[in-house]
Parts: sequence; structure tokens; C-alpha cells
Amino acid sequence: MGPRASIPLVSLPREYVVIVTGGDTGIGYETAKFIAMMGPTVIVACRSKEKAERAFEQMNEEFQQEKEQGTQNIISDDRLRLEFAKLDLASLKSTMDFVEGFKASSRKLHVLICNAGVMMSDEIITEDKYELTYQVNYLSQFLIMAHFLPIMKTSGNDVRIVLVSSAAHKHCHYDPNYAAGERMKKHDPLQCYSNTKLYQIMQMYSIDRMLEKTHVELYSVHPGYVSKDLYRRNRHFGKRFNCFRCCLKCLCMIKTPRKGSATSIYAAVSPELKGLSRAYFTHSRDAAEFPSNTARDRELQDYLLQCTIDNLRDLLPQEFIQEALNTVKRTSTKAGSSNH
Ligand SMILES: NC(=O)c1ccc[n+]([C@@H]2O[C@H](COP(=O)([O-])OP(=O)(O)OC[C@H]3O[C@@H](n4cnc5c(N)ncnc54)[C@H](OP(=O)(O)O)[C@@H]3O)[C@@H](O)[C@H]2O)c1
Repeated sequence: MGPRASIPLVSLPREYVVIVTGGDTGIGYETAKFIAMMGPTVIVACRSKEKAERAFEQMNEEFQQEKEQGTQNIISDDRLRLEFAKLDLASLKSTMDFVEGFKASSRKLHVLICNAGVMMSDEIITEDKYELTYQVNYLSQFLIMAHFLPIMKTSGNDVRIVLVSSAAHKHCHYDPNYAAGERMKKHDPLQCYSNTKLYQIMQMYSIDRMLEKTHVELYSVHPGYVSKDLYRRNRHFGKRFNCFRCCLKCLCMIKTPRKGSATSIYAAVSPELKGLSRAYFTHSRDAAEFPSNTARDRELQDYLLQCTIDNLRDLLPQEFIQEALNTVKRTSTKAGSSNH
């Protein structure tokens, strides 16, 4: 049993459609590849068509190797069913083009994996005037989810959204201004990252409240620490971050992207999770874990949801706004003014 043993492989219906944002590299690449091996069509939503096509070639080569090695629960087809869709999360226009493109195809959607992310970026302000990490990791993927919910609600009785968060959310100094879409007073790349990873878990709780009577389930995951190029946007690694990585290396806690994909795949496909929405899984996967107290704070979740709706008001479906606001308790005052 090689590293494949850690990947939970199950046979999935051929008619399933799965979207993986950032599925051209890293954890998303492995996630897209292994899920495609289980049978469904996997749409890799990413920035570069060339990069996606190279990734598809590589995925198909690795698929042949898996078949030759007799891996269980994978399809016997000649090629994986992989599709590219253009998506630049740093642009709300590109995000809406992607959304409209998928809607126009009139397909069902069974699994949405919000995997794409940036970390440790220098301060970059997008064309939409948001800090890059906030828009890529949180805001744009929230917009995608909001538009796909009506499709997912009618796609079947086991439909899932997986938010690829991080244990970094536990080290976050919650910043209400950043949650509202403003720049941090002093740009701190690690705090930008950990705040956005916190928002994804808050989003899981908020949106799950809207979906109580549906078959759509939300999970958030921490894949573990994966040696990949997520850190490449940082030109000046902080000393503390380098030290942290050295410690992880010494403790053999740095994983390959393949091992790192196991938790996302588990949340996306494992039959035993059906009906267990609103769970946060880490790389051990033995049982759901508690995210931080801040992530579970209802008042902060409501505040974030309200701010997100304010920022995306012109782009969100009206019914979504109405349904979301119906779940917001009208008590949020501290959320907007305090640091946690
Ligand atoms: N690596 C870790 O140790 C670790 C730990 C905890 C959580 N995570 C989470 O796991 C997820 C995947 O991380 P990874 O390590 O696989 O990172 P990665 O190798 O850097 O991959 C990140 C993916 O996000 C995409 N992306 C970045 N900016 C984008 C944009 N503007 N529009 C569309 N896609 C964009 C990248 O696309 P391009 O190829 O075009 O750049 C790439 O496909 C992230 O959400 C990360 O926060 C990772």
C-alpha cells in the first residue's frame, strides 16, 4: 500500500459533475485527478488554459499508472473526463463570466470544491479595489457558491461544498475592517491569509443555516502542511514563517500535495459523511474537529455575512440575499468594532 492508501477512493456516478477551483496545480491537482478517476466529470476552474491542459496530460499519465497498478474503485476508461473553465478569482468580472458560462450549460452540479488560494502575498489591490488575498480566497469563491446554490439544491440528494481552509485560521487576529473588505491598516500577509481562512469556516456555518432543509452539505478542511508553491508570492519570507517551516520539516509534518488532497477528497466523496453537514476536518480525518471559537462565534458570522452581501449586492441573486439576510440575527454590534 503506497501513498494511494490514504486517498479515500469510491465509485461515483458517471453523471456527477464536480468543480475544483485551482485544480491545475498543488492540492487541487491531486483532488481533481483522484475524483475524476472515480468516474465524474471534473471541471478545473483556473486562470491558464495551457497550464490546465498540461495538467490534464499529466493526470491522464498518472491515471494509466494507477490502472496498471490495479488501484481499486477507479474507472477503466481510456481517459479521464476533465474540462477546463477560465476563472480568475482576482476579478469579479472573470468570476461572473465563469458563473454565467456554467449556468448556460444547464448542467447539474454535485460537488463544488473551493480550493484555489493565495498565501503570503505582498499587498496587491485588485481591479475591484479589494486586497488580493481577501478577494481570491474568500469573496469571489463566496460569489460562485451563492450562484451555484440553486443548481446544487436540485442536483441530487448528496450534494457537497468543500471549503479548503487552513489551521492557520486559529492564529488569526480577527480584523473586522478586513472582514468588511477594507485594507488592513498595516498589511500583514500572514494575517490576511489566516483571516480569509477563518472567513471560509464562518461561511460554512452561515450558509449551512440557509440550507437546513436541503441536501446540500458544507464542509471545511485543513489539508495539513503541504510542500508546494503556495508561498511563492512572498518575496520576503518572515523569519517566523521560515522557522515554522523548518520545525514542520524536522517533525516530518510537511506532506506531498497528494497526501494533502486526501482530506478534501474525503469531505467531497466519503459516503459516511452524508447528512453530517457543517463539519471541519483536518488531515487526521478520524473525526470532525472544532475550529476556533472565533470561527464559531455566531455574531461574527452574521457580521461577515452582512458585509459580504453589502460588497457583492449588485452581483448576488436577489433570492440569495433575501434568504441569507433572513438568517442574520439583528444583534451584531460588537462584531463591527472589536478585535478578537
Ligand atoms: N499548502 C499548504 O500547506 C496548505 C495548508 C493549509 C491550507 N492550504 C489551502 O489549500 C489550498 C490549495 O493550496 P496549494 O498548497 O495547493 O497551493 P498552490 O499550489 O499555490 O495552488 C493554489 C491554486 O490557487 C490558484 N489561484 C491562485 N490565484 C488565483 C486566481 N486569482 N484565480 C484563480 N485561481 C487562483 C492557483 O492558480 P495558478 O496555478 O494560476 O497560480 C493554484 O491553482 C489553498 O486554499 C490553501 O489555502 C494549503
